[in-house]
Amino acid sequence: MNLQQLIKIAKKLVVNGKGLLAMDESNPTINKRFAALGIPQTEETRRAYREIIVTTPGLRDCISGAILYDETVHQTLTDGTPFVKAVIQAGIIPGIKVDTGAKDMAGHPGEKITEGLDGLRERLVEYYQMGILFAKWRAVITIGDGIPSRACIEANAHALARYAALCQEVGLVPVVEPEVLMDGSHSLGRCEEVTEEVLRTVFYQLYVQGVKLEGLILKSNMVLPGLKCPTQESVDLVADITVKCLLRAVPAAVQGITFLSGGQTSELASARLNAMNVRFKAKVPWELSFSFARAIQQPGMGIWHGKSDNVLAAQQALYHRAWCNRAARRGEYNDSMER
Ligand code: 13P
Repeated sequence: MNLQQLIKIAKKLVVNGKGLLAMDESNPTINKRFAALGIPQTEETRRAYREIIVTTPGLRDCISGAILYDETVHQTLTDGTPFVKAVIQAGIIPGIKVDTGAKDMAGHPGEKITEGLDGLRERLVEYYQMGILFAKWRAVITIGDGIPSRACIEANAHALARYAALCQEVGLVPVVEPEVLMDGSHSLGRCEEVTEEVLRTVFYQLYVQGVKLEGLILKSNMVLPGLKCPTQESVDLVADITVKCLLRAVPAAVQGITFLSGGQTSELASARLNAMNVRFKAKVPWELSFSFARAIQQPGMGIWHGKSDNVLAAQQALYHRAWCNRAARRGEYNDSMER
């Protein structure tokens, strides 16, 4: 492992004013989003859509790294350029999702365990040889009646730590993602409690496995009330509770925290990230950044609708969301940018 190299890449991924673009939806997930918009769900539409993303002019102004999906890294643009090369040529660091999905956890109804450790070392070497420099693994934690269980939290944290150690061995920066889901009617306080427990467990396992925190990015959920919770706290309160929770559980050595959007509206995701940076940027040890999929992509995907006539407008919408989040990174985002 070359720690200095990992640190250099991790710092570039969270450089001021830029963030990550997650475009690593699995086939079932992107097909579901296409189906909801009436877009055909084929290998070619997925390729064409992702070509629109990576050829968006000026994306590098706001996006430091793009997380790709295995299908995409084996595809090319219309002109024959492989996707990984196209991303590099666009001035963006290519990354990849390497887990193989969250599956039902044995003996734990309603809970998931993420798979993908078998053969992972060999896959990571292959990705590294393609020019990919970072890798993401997502664990899913559900809040509900009597859950999450310790069994689910510990099994997922252990898998995250084993994947992260393999990444660093190969020279890839791990983007460690334990996602506490927004689904449900739980309160903000319950999400705070669960997020803290999950993060403490993940960092303990990373320590046990010898993962170097300086060469790692945390991808976290914001601390939010459940989507069905009747009480939805203000943007500033969400920002305060989220950062206070992270301060208790995330070591200062970590280079940056990149939030997932998790089903929030694009505008709320930007506003909450902005509030965190306005209130805490000067006081926290890490960069507070984004690694959004839906909150960057969704408006543009809706405009595209699978039609070539709409490509330019879709790219403008995508760029606009990236630009709003670039502003949020700096604490300079406001409502007027949405008009
Ligand atoms: P969302 O921003 O749509 O939650 O996706 C982020 C992500 O990559 C989940 O793994």
